[in-house]
Amino acid sequence: MKIGIIGYGSMGRMLLRKFSSNRKIAREDLFIANRTPEKVSKAEDIAVICNNKDLAADSDIVFVCVRPSDMRAVLSEISSSLKDDALLVTLNGSITFDMIRKIADHKTAKVIPSLTAEIDRSQTIVCYNDLVSDNDKAVLRDLLSSIGEVIELPENEVGMGSELVSCMPGFIASIFDVICTSAGKHTSIPQDQIVKMVLNTMSATGDLMLRENMTFDDVVARVATKGGITEEGTKVIYEMFPEASDEMFSKTLAKRKLTAEKASESFNSL
Ligand SMILES: NC(=O)c1ccc[n+]([C@@H]2O[C@H](COP(=O)([O-])OP(=O)(O)OC[C@H]3O[C@@H](n4cnc5c(N)ncnc54)[C@H](OP(=O)(O)O)[C@@H]3O)[C@@H](O)[C@H]2O)c1
Repeated sequence: MKIGIIGYGSMGRMLLRKFSSNRKIAREDLFIANRTPEKVSKAEDIAVICNNKDLAADSDIVFVCVRPSDMRAVLSEISSSLKDDALLVTLNGSITFDMIRKIADHKTAKVIPSLTAEIDRSQTIVCYNDLVSDNDKAVLRDLLSSIGEVIELPENEVGMGSELVSCMPGFIASIFDVICTSAGKHTSIPQDQIVKMVLNTMSATGDLMLRENMTFDDVVARVATKGGITEEGTKVIYEMFPEASDEMFSKTLAKRKLTAEKASESFNSL
């Protein structure tokens, strides 16, 4: 099976490295193409470098890892070169199957990985159009399982799913950045040590909850005893943070809607 990846940015680079190292896909079965060819020369030892059309003509699965604003141009360029039986995979939640079908009427999957794929712990969202067979789904799922867990969602839930897995590392990092900066104002412990203590505790808390099947309430109840010190802090978080969290989701979902509308306009102008 030959795999092609268009776009050598954050996602394309990560998928290429992971398919090569975790799935041991041979160099001659991996193709990579990028708009700026100079950037991709570093991948020469693990993949065959080619242009978009040749990549589409030779691959059984084509991952299109470009931003939504570049998607229409790439799909238009490759649609006539794709093999009849090729599985087209896009990595963007805002480009719908209906939009894609206007240009490329093919078996298509949407895949949204998270940055945590870097340590093989992605929560990867996947959904399919109605042309994708059970066998195609099994092949794609097997490939993606090399970077973490695969979660199938209906197309109308891919937006919120993306918030929860692909945006979430950014949300988590910014929340704990605020917490560590605030902690630094009240202590002489060096900032790098604060960050290390908080990150390790955060990561271990997540692992503990998953391993022991604990809820957030379970953890709060174990740590924040009635009338104690932790309870003072958790009270503030439960009083003040919901407003910020609601605002965060209304802003990101509004931006997602706008991106989808812009993409739709660009595909409708065909
Ligand atoms: N980053 C994430 O955590 C994440 C997570 C899930 C999904 N996604 C989605 O994945 C997609 C890619 O995101 P990214 O973060 O990897 O973007 P990125 O870092 O900006 O990379 C995009 C790549 O696409 C290339 N490209 C653009 N137009 C092209 C064309 N016509 N032909 C060939 N290559 C072309 C760019 O080439 P140049 O070198 O010329 O710029 C660049 O290398 C987006 O749709 C994004 O929404 C991202």
